[in-house]
Amino acid sequence: MKILYAIVSVTCFIFSACTPSCSSDVSSPDGKIRLLFSLTNDKQMTYQVTVNDTLFIAPSPLGFEARNGINLSEGFHITGTDFDSKDETWSQPWGENKSIRNHYNEMAVHLTDTLDTRLTLRFRVFNDGLGFRYEYQLPGADSIFVMNELTSFNIAQDGISWSIPANFDTYELLYRTQPISQTDNANTPITFKTGNVYGSIHEAALTDFPEMTLRNEGNCLFKSELAPWPDGVKVRIAGGSFKTSWRTIQIAPKAVGLINSGLILNLNEPCALETTDWIRPMKYVGVWWGMHLGVESWVINDRHGATTENAKRYIDFAAANNIEAVMYEGWNEGWENWGGSQAFDYTKPYADFDIKEIARYAKEKGIAIIGHHETGGNIPNYEKQLDKAYKWYADLGIHSVKTGYAGGLPNGHNHHGQYNVRHYREVVKTAAKYHTTLDVHEPIKDTGIRRTYPNMMTREGARGMEWNAWSAGNPPEHHELLPFTRMLSGPMDYTPGIFDILYERAKKSPLRKKWNMVDSKDCRVNTTLAKQIANWVIIYSPLQMASDMIENYEGHPAFLFFRDFNADCDWSEALAGEPGEFVVIARKAKDNYYLGATTNEEARNVNIKLNFLEKGKTYKATIYADGKDADWETNPTSYEIIEKTVNANDNLEIIMAKGGGQAITFIPVL
Ligand code: NOJ
Ligand code: CA
Repeated sequence: MKILYAIVSVTCFIFSACTPSCSSDVSSPDGKIRLLFSLTNDKQMTYQVTVNDTLFIAPSPLGFEARNGINLSEGFHITGTDFDSKDETWSQPWGENKSIRNHYNEMAVHLTDTLDTRLTLRFRVFNDGLGFRYEYQLPGADSIFVMNELTSFNIAQDGISWSIPANFDTYELLYRTQPISQTDNANTPITFKTGNVYGSIHEAALTDFPEMTLRNEGNCLFKSELAPWPDGVKVRIAGGSFKTSWRTIQIAPKAVGLINSGLILNLNEPCALETTDWIRPMKYVGVWWGMHLGVESWVINDRHGATTENAKRYIDFAAANNIEAVMYEGWNEGWENWGGSQAFDYTKPYADFDIKEIARYAKEKGIAIIGHHETGGNIPNYEKQLDKAYKWYADLGIHSVKTGYAGGLPNGHNHHGQYNVRHYREVVKTAAKYHTTLDVHEPIKDTGIRRTYPNMMTREGARGMEWNAWSAGNPPEHHELLPFTRMLSGPMDYTPGIFDILYERAKKSPLRKKWNMVDSKDCRVNTTLAKQIANWVIIYSPLQMASDMIENYEGHPAFLFFRDFNADCDWSEALAGEPGEFVVIARKAKDNYYLGATTNEEARNVNIKLNFLEKGKTYKATIYADGKDADWETNPTSYEIIEKTVNANDNLEIIMAKGGGQAITFIPVL
């Protein structure tokens, strides 16, 4: 349905004085969210948002500033306004939900200035929030240097916010819970509650543009701050036209509504790949945690983790435990230069890692290999080898790669500017050429491009498990904040599932002692065992890792959960939760359901209706619960496994210890 409104239907006339203002508005399909665009008397572009007729985002500036006399924000007048709406359901090869409803009303405001700059501001309002983007055309311009973004989010009433600080190089930071007005700056997604409404500001479809962070200009007015190039330019455009990423505000009456929203994916372009049948979610184990604990090493020496023998041991374990893949770090030459030139060679395995034999053995056992490319931040070195490296892996039958960018970038570039956004996309496209899926560590933030490139499966982009190995670690509330902030952007390779919570086995390792890897900090995992299991469900990743060394799983009764788990889910719903407090999420994969519930430092009981189960079916529920005496600080490994027969009419009381959780598999009884 496309309606070209007559100019007279908006509240101003072309070239007429804007008194009191020129404005037009668009509402969500259910009428609850209303966005009003206005040109003020002095021709500044602004927008505001109401939710249930209450001001939610007060009038907020729009536009950009550019170099060389190019105007991107001032003196515009409206030449027309188009309205459109869509209600469609589309499906994706994998995801929290295989099918997603895309239902919105659109308003495209067309503007121009006296220099003939043309701008379309495209607003889309959904029942779960809104997005808008800028589409500029500057006839005759051969380049544009964007210096500043004016887009702001003027949250109308103070409340509470949950966010990490703005930083152009890392997202591996602790979350802060603080008044919105006292949040100086933030990276996105920043989630907040004002009045009775929850919101989250982020962006969608970040393409050839720098990331947006937010700076508080006073009270609750957050202005976009783009990650710069080394010379201070924010965006370099070749030619005279560009579209920005979408600026998004998710809105929901309950916090879990933010998690259940498909808005970020809906604002991305449909799949650009010709075929997707080579893309499949997998569970994996890997030669990884031993390195972080110092029991093994990336570099070749007597602690070397990625040896042929160890690789085969992991393949055998995966094959025996219904796990589809294994991942190896420290397999290639270059780790000896760690912290120096970071000049990795992506086609030269270490002498004790016989990759051809390992690939042959994995194939024989039906196990996929996830390769590893650590760049250490040396982008030019990686780009030089990119095509060759992905082809080389593909020729060996390796079609999934974990990448890493741990280290500073050369020539003053930061990780999140336009330069590196381009690089990350180049890698996605090269990987797709070789039918290869990606798990990116130290990535650019997720903005939903997995819809367009479903081989971009998962990424890190927050403090993951590794922080527990060598720092004070992630506090229990971290896992109650991730689902309401970072996870709104997309899947995360957190790498849950450490069973040796206090590193008792690692601490006994003679090699760790010999190499003086025993640090003074009392490192450990800050949860109970049941919470580790629940995080396999909660922290969604289509490549889901059981991250502990396999010795810690062998013979452990609770590892049955991971054997039964399926990373290829069809449906998901966040059932209950509050940011920083607790969360309960259910997922379905084929005929089985999985539920994960976790809590912060507080012990908690949550009553859950099982009405998400298929009606008329009976299920065997296997419950992995905190033991009665469990406590994340004093008794983290106490757990129990309880079996029950349940159906969709039942309620379940979920009992969680301090820093604990609960995981449940529901398998139909035939
Ligand atoms: C940081 C990544 O997050 C981690 O998973 C990896 O083991 C190291 N870099 C080394 O590549
Ligand atoms: Ca990392």
